[in-house]
Amino acid sequence: MPVDPADFRRALGQFAAGVTVVTTHDAQGRSLGLTVTAFASVSLEPPLVLVCVDHRSEAHVGFRHAGLFGISILAEGQEEVSRRFAVGGAAKFKGLELATGSTGVPLIPGALAHLECRVSGTHVAGDHTIYVGEVLSAEVRPGRPLLYHDRRYRRLAPGEEPEE
Ligand SMILES: Cc1cc2nc3c(=O)[nH]c(=O)nc-3n(C[C@H](O)[C@H](O)[C@H](O)COP(=O)(O)O)c2cc1C
Repeated sequence: MPVDPADFRRALGQFAAGVTVVTTHDAQGRSLGLTVTAFASVSLEPPLVLVCVDHRSEAHVGFRHAGLFGISILAEGQEEVSRRFAVGGAAKFKGLELATGSTGVPLIPGALAHLECRVSGTHVAGDHTIYVGEVLSAEVRPGRPLLYHDRRYRRLAPGEEPEE
């Protein structure tokens, strides 16, 4: 018997996740990006991560063209950035200052970590494509993460101090 879609969504919502913005660019140098919680580490040697991107996303053209993408792991004060990148269209970049990584991918300033990746595998899975990325550079800054659980943004509880 197929799983009830509402039950499926509710169950997935119980998985507390960090929040990332995944970015790339197209042939004209236009930045593309979206909010992604479907991010995971895959391998340490070689360093690999994955992100799952909905087939409706505009960003696929950038993944294909650039063969590169950036992942910005958002800090707890960046809920507005997450909301901005969860909306379709180019307006999300309006008035936003971006950083540029060593590979040329756009990145979100102020994020807790930046990963720059080369697409090393692409797997169509249902209505999403899984991009496996070989991590070319990783940069970290101290701070607390933005979290997402049960359809709401969350923060680490006071006292749950991340190690510096
Ligand atoms: C908290 C949160 C997590 C999300 N995670 C994903 C995800 O993992 N993969 C995905 O494709 N879309 C995810 N989305 C939805 C996209 O961010 C949203 O559809 C966005 O508008 C796509 O932008 P685009 O169509 O301009 O590429 C998420 C949205 C929110 C609010």
